[in-house]
Amino acid sequence: MIFYFSGTGNSLYAAKNIAESQGEKLVSIAKEFDIKDNSFEYEIKENEVLGFVFPVYAWGPPKIVLDFISKIKITGFMPYIFSVCTCGDEEGKTTNKIQRALHNRNLNLDSGFTLVMPNNYIFGFDVDSKDVEEEKLKDADQKLIYIKHVIKNRGCSAFELNEGKFPKLKSSIVNSLFNKYALSTKKFYTTDKCTGCRICENICPLHSINVDNKPSWGKSCTQCLACINRCPVKAIQYGKNTINKGRYIHPELK
Ligand SMILES: Cc1cc2nc3c(=O)[nH]c(=O)nc-3n(C[C@H](O)[C@H](O)[C@H](O)COP(=O)(O)O)c2cc1C
Repeated sequence: MIFYFSGTGNSLYAAKNIAESQGEKLVSIAKEFDIKDNSFEYEIKENEVLGFVFPVYAWGPPKIVLDFISKIKITGFMPYIFSVCTCGDEEGKTTNKIQRALHNRNLNLDSGFTLVMPNNYIFGFDVDSKDVEEEKLKDADQKLIYIKHVIKNRGCSAFELNEGKFPKLKSSIVNSLFNKYALSTKKFYTTDKCTGCRICENICPLHSINVDNKPSWGKSCTQCLACINRCPVKAIQYGKNTINKGRYIHPELK
């Protein structure tokens, strides 16, 4: 069983790729939260693996992923467990945070991987150039072959991580500031280009967008940036930061 969360398709692509090769079921974490009275209880069969695939947000896992892990109850066979975090460059101590969250549920992370993929964080930086994007997608496919090999062989204590410089500092101080102050929808707005197509409303994993002619944002936001990156007419902006920036969607999501 492979649980995933994804805003712009990178993590979905990786999760699907792994799930298909291992014959595992793919489950959306966001959709699990939609099911009323979900007990978050999952029965694991013999030889089944448990995987978590998600993006890195400010050197940590998305809050929704940690919330999910804090609620899960695993019954049946004890599975082999792995995580793959996709990111533009470096994960800091993201895998470490997942390991601790799983440990709190009496679960052990057997392997963990950083998968570098194109950057979608257009609030801080711009998207990658087309050349860099293509290179990252090609390299990610190579690393996925390796990841699938490790998972198939149930490799233990197999960690292949790009933590970057000062990972502890980034994943503690910067990540907690991000979770405290950055998860706001206040700066989102649409320009005259908006056609009211409702794509943003339909794809928001937290159902925070309501389109009544034009979109308006509710309070909850995990900053997946799906709405702003996936708007087909580039009508969504975030303050002044995003006006001259590109937009990114994984090619298979287009
Ligand atoms: C709010 C936010 C914060 C991000 N922080 C990081 C980061 O700390 N390190 C990094 O390398 N990439 C960072 N990124 C880039 C994403 O992790 C990366 O593009 C990821 O593959 C997107 O996955 P998705 O397409 O499944 O949503 C960030 C993206 C967002 C939206």
